[in-house]
Amino acid sequence: MSRQPEVEKEQGGFDPGAVRRMFAILNREIAWLDNAATTQRPEPVLQAMDRFYRQHNANTRRSVHRLGAEATAAYEGARAAVAQFIGAAAPEEVVFTSGTTAGINLVAAGLARREIGPGDEVWVSAMEHHSNWVPWQQAVQRLGATLKVIPLTPERRLDLAAFRKGLAARKAKWVAVAWVSNVLGAVNDVRAICDAAHGAGAQVLVDGAQGVAHLPVDVAAMDCDFFAFSGHKMYGPMGIGALWGRSGLLGQMDPLMLGGEMIARVDERSATWAEVPYRFEGGTPNVAGAVGLGEAIGWVRTLPAAAHGYVADLARETAQQLAALPGVTVWGPAEGRVSLVSFSVEGVHAHDVAQVLDGRGIAVRAGHMCAQPLMRRLGIESAVRVSFAPYNTRDEVRRLLEGVRAARELFT
Ligand SMILES: Cc1ncc(COP(=O)(O)O)c(C=O)c1O
Repeated sequence: MSRQPEVEKEQGGFDPGAVRRMFAILNREIAWLDNAATTQRPEPVLQAMDRFYRQHNANTRRSVHRLGAEATAAYEGARAAVAQFIGAAAPEEVVFTSGTTAGINLVAAGLARREIGPGDEVWVSAMEHHSNWVPWQQAVQRLGATLKVIPLTPERRLDLAAFRKGLAARKAKWVAVAWVSNVLGAVNDVRAICDAAHGAGAQVLVDGAQGVAHLPVDVAAMDCDFFAFSGHKMYGPMGIGALWGRSGLLGQMDPLMLGGEMIARVDERSATWAEVPYRFEGGTPNVAGAVGLGEAIGWVRTLPAAAHGYVADLARETAQQLAALPGVTVWGPAEGRVSLVSFSVEGVHAHDVAQVLDGRGIAVRAGHMCAQPLMRRLGIESAVRVSFAPYNTRDEVRRLLEGVRAARELFT
């Protein structure tokens, strides 16, 4: 492994180099600009998971021995940490899932499907990830309902005026919307969407995948009904995430994963369910993952407020500098961008741009970014995305811009 380069401190005193040194993988000569796909994990998260397996490993809840009690305490401690992090009223409102996709599917299949009928309407936004599109699309198809789409304004923000106008009271049942777009980087006014939806009698699921690492989360202030996110996009492990739901609503939801740990009683021909949230966590849970997520939450909380401003500055500056390059189009609004920038280079396929960048040790995402309906609205098939974390540096941005210029020269 090579040593990490010296990184200059920011004017406000924020030190990206100090953050960087906590990530062993960044010792490799890689500029990791694919944080929206998955962030890297800092040492404390890796150590917490390692400690769990080395010292406390056991199944939760079903074991009477001391390791079982320790594992249960660790798992439930992580649940409490998630609850506090997102502003939940109680840990019982938090269901551990394998990630955002699993949480959305649970709501769409376990509750929404029961409430949607022929003639009803389900809204998604034009900028949804497939994970927050396909479960709703399939649900409405089966149930004879209609999928409605919140359109984009010319600035590529959500057109909330059109949404309010189109929301039909009594017909609109569900609204599923991303807090932050994984392509445009735009932050959506989810509170305004919830207010409008509730006014029409609809419930709202917020896809928090791209927001949790960068914005303060408060589900109560958002006033949403469900909130789903993934640990791996906020410095935690892969394969763990959480779904928050209003406790009254969780109680009405059907479990999807049936079997061990989620039952109260099983007779030969019938079964009753365990309390919320355990009824949604059938099978042996990902305890080490939950422990890692709890640690990641603690780690995010140690970041100074300036770290988030720094990430937003990197995204804004990168968007401006990319837009100034000949032949480059930056997608997304000029203002209100949190952490990522998507762009296209005229005459060069996104994969070719990413390949040239990879040759220079710069990791970016290229493709449709699991948002094909949005891509079609933008009139493109694919784009390149760079996404930031507090360990990224201005030198990496400089190298990115050089690489993009080089790709254009090579291919046009
Ligand atoms: C906005 C958004 N929603 C949902 C997902 C799916 O997350 P996961 O694959 O962790 O379930 C992603 C992943 O990129 C995303 O960016």
